[in-house]
Amino acid sequence: MSSLINSAFNQAVYAICLTDLDGKLLHVNHAYLKLYKIESVEELIGKTQRFISSPKTPKVVYQQMWQMIESNRNWNGEITNLDSEGREVFIHLNINPIFKNGEKIGYMGFSLDRSQQVMMEKQLLHANKLVVLGTLGAGLAHELNNPLTSISLEAEYIQEAIHSFQEMEHLDQLKAASNSILMSVERMNRVIEHLLVYSRKDDGEDMEIVSMNAVISDSFLFLDKQLKNRDIQVKIEKEEELKVYGHRMDMESVIHNLLTNARDAFHKSRTEEKLIKLKLSRTDDDWMMIEYWDNAGGIPPEIIEKIYDPFFTTKVEGEGTGLGLAITKKIVVASGGMISCESENGETRFIIRLPLIKENVQ
Ligand SMILES: Nc1ncnc2c1ncn2[C@@H]1O[C@H](COP(=O)(O)OP(=O)(O)OP(=O)(O)O)[C@@H](O)[C@H]1O
Ligand SMILES: [Mg+2]
Repeated sequence: MSSLINSAFNQAVYAICLTDLDGKLLHVNHAYLKLYKIESVEELIGKTQRFISSPKTPKVVYQQMWQMIESNRNWNGEITNLDSEGREVFIHLNINPIFKNGEKIGYMGFSLDRSQQVMMEKQLLHANKLVVLGTLGAGLAHELNNPLTSISLEAEYIQEAIHSFQEMEHLDQLKAASNSILMSVERMNRVIEHLLVYSRKDDGEDMEIVSMNAVISDSFLFLDKQLKNRDIQVKIEKEEELKVYGHRMDMESVIHNLLTNARDAFHKSRTEEKLIKLKLSRTDDDWMMIEYWDNAGGIPPEIIEKIYDPFFTTKVEGEGTGLGLAITKKIVVASGGMISCESENGETRFIIRLPLIKENVQ
């Protein structure tokens, strides 16, 4: 019998150790020796677990462990030890007291190697970081691409204009070009700033009173030429000056995303009279309503539910990130508003409602 117990002890997959009441090792099995890369049992006898402990396991863990086992209870936990070569060993340890004739004579420890699990956890954490980085990177690329295009176009124009500087008319255009450059740079600054605070703030802090008429005009600054070149007409209806609470650049992104989506959809459609309509109005219950309409081909019913999903896109890789409407919805909701979309007969309509600021609030 004792040889059977001995063989079972040595062949167990768990690393097992037996100690006296002071924690000094009396016996360990083969799995234990293998786990800590120790040649023979003799090397260990009489030593305490400190022999294999790592400073990475907080002292308080050992304190709790001793409190539990000294009061005759089992202790379970995850700790980090060191093998004889100084490499970390991650284990799940279970310690229980041993009794003989009702008297406690020692402790028995079972350890399960967690190295594989720890490695997988680390990889998962890393993969998760990559996903987060990817999301930020894609968002950054999306938001900065347009101002960068604008900067390079205007800079090219300035270079050309410098060559034919005698003509006075160029001066006004030069002024406009340099203004446009400054605005693009400001926009990129704003996006970077936004990204930096994106993860920390989501509580409406730092919002300002934004004039939507100015937002609409600025949204067209970058897109005006592009839309004209593609024979896309834009009709804007604005009533009085309407103000909302939000971030100016974010509000611009909202309009910008709707317009670029139409621009891209017209590229694929066969519509003869390409038209985008934007109407800003005040509702009876004091909301600002942005009614957006285009005839760029419409959104098929089977995908309309998905358009606000991050990364949902029908564009080929490299042409769309699928973040435009996800960002748009996030901005609208962060400003206390809502957005809805309907599409039929090749036409798309977005309705955005935002809480209006009363005139006397400044
Ligand atoms: N006005 C529109 N007309 C037709 N389809 C649209 C329109 N607006 C959005 N869509 C559809 O919704 C999808 C998601 O739009 P979203 O703006 O979120 O991403 P995207 O435009 O594909 O990518 P990105 O915004 O990065 O360019 C688009 O791929 C397109 O299929
Ligand atoms: Mg888009």
